[in-house]
Amino acid sequence: MSTTDLRRAGLFLSFEGMDGSGKTTQMRLLIERLRREGYDVLETAEPGGTPIGRQIRRILLDGANRELSSRAELLLYFACRAQNVDEWIRPALEAGRVVVSDRYTDSTLAYQGAGRGLPVDTIHALHGFACGPTSPDLTIYLDIDRATGLARAHARNAERAATDQPNESRIDDEAAEFHDRVHAAYAALCEQAPDRIQRVNAAGSVAEVHAAIWSSVAARLSTHKMRRDTRDV
Ligand code: TYD
Repeated sequence: MSTTDLRRAGLFLSFEGMDGSGKTTQMRLLIERLRREGYDVLETAEPGGTPIGRQIRRILLDGANRELSSRAELLLYFACRAQNVDEWIRPALEAGRVVVSDRYTDSTLAYQGAGRGLPVDTIHALHGFACGPTSPDLTIYLDIDRATGLARAHARNAERAATDQPNESRIDDEAAEFHDRVHAAYAALCEQAPDRIQRVNAAGSVAEVHAAIWSSVAARLSTHKMRRDTRDV
């Protein structure tokens, strides 16, 4: 089997969306369903995932780190991702597992590219270095308007503060214009990659949103299986 075939053995799904879009709930529901259907799932997150990635996450999201420069922030996101790809994601795909990642490079394009104004070419180059050919087969983008999303994110941050959990508000605390640029960047990414990115309206009920996500994941799994079946014959 060639390297390309090995990479294709698994399926790579990512979730994207503004803070407070309901990503965490929907990812959990999807993963439970995939496992019930018998798929071997690796759940990961950006920033986070691996133990080293979780240490990098603490630096990135700590509201006290006001001095973190935009370039340092960008490199830390990719450091985290390189570790995730090398330690978890690539081996899981090679083993034929379904990988579900809470965020990936689309987040960097939206937040560091559009949000912070860092050059998109640099982000693509860093992606090539950090991730190689490891990119999602399907991305679920949960689309929510900024006001609803931020209200949910701020409520969650207040709850974390009240229960002494680590403060993860550094990016949620950015100005409204920052979040507007992120939202516009996601809309542009959906237009640029319509075959990969599935936009789902996150304003629906939890059950409605889950049904929409499941229908696109199930469709992708069936075509992916066909490819594998063809190859294995
Ligand atoms: P996440 O843990 O998904 O938080 P939330 O549940 O609020 O969506 O993401 C943490 C934050 O990190 C989020 O505000 C988006 C930001 N982020 C970037 O700015 N760039 C990136 O490359 C990634 C992966 C996340």
